[in-house]
Amino acid sequence: MSFLERIEERPGAAELRAASYRMLGLKRGATCVDVACGAGHAVAELAKKGLKVTGVDADPDAIEAARERAPGAMFHVAHSDELPLEDESMDGYRALRLFHLLEDSAPTVAEAYRVLRPGGRIVLGGQDYGFVLIDSSDQDLTDVIRLGLESRTVSPRATRTLRDVLLDTGFTDVEVAVHTEVVTDYEQMAPQLKSAAEAAVDKALITREDAAGWLREQAGRGRRDRFLAVLPTLLVGGQR
Ligand SMILES: C[S@@+](CC[C@H](N)C(=O)[O-])C[C@H]1O[C@@H](n2cnc3c(N)ncnc32)[C@H](O)[C@@H]1O
Repeated sequence: MSFLERIEERPGAAELRAASYRMLGLKRGATCVDVACGAGHAVAELAKKGLKVTGVDADPDAIEAARERAPGAMFHVAHSDELPLEDESMDGYRALRLFHLLEDSAPTVAEAYRVLRPGGRIVLGGQDYGFVLIDSSDQDLTDVIRLGLESRTVSPRATRTLRDVLLDTGFTDVEVAVHTEVVTDYEQMAPQLKSAAEAAVDKALITREDAAGWLREQAGRGRRDRFLAVLPTLLVGGQR
């Protein structure tokens, strides 16, 4: 779980979670499910706000970590397209950074519609890998390396389709907001940069030398305080 814990403890992560709660707009005592809850940061925060929260994740280790973080909440190990929840039992549904992992978003969103009561609120979101900006002296090479990163993800551009999927499923008042994280600390992104460059080599998009040169430049930018990455996350909300 340490990877998820690290991501949720990044400076922008708490702000993103707070934006998702504002979009949900739930009052004390409301029921809410956080699907793909990971290590349970959002479940714990929503429980502190007085909501009756249920955390769901397909990974039993995630649920174990989440249970420790939010001992008062309910938890289930389950897949997002088959939730162990009654029809129309939830006032709110939240799922962040899940859809890039799914082949097809529609069954998960249909399941959200089933468990939400009429008038209930949904908030979905995540990064769209097509938008990631990394400054570099060779922007074309950087774009190819970004494609490498996309190739390691099941549905790297799923987030931009969520507005369509919500509307197609029958949700109303669908709104899209962007939360942008600016990263100037190279160390914070170094593992992802390496993984993206390796993926681009594996896909034969670039040579090993290209990758090494690009990574050297990024590390040099880090040392000179010239590293810049911009990571937008889309939040898509609606009403059942
Ligand atoms: C990138 S993490 C996101 C965790 C948290 N929502 C966040 O924003 O930090 C993705 C989580 O989704 C879970 N997951 C992946 N596919 C799932 C599915 N179909 N149903 C439920 N959980 C799933 C993983 O086990 C993992 O905990």
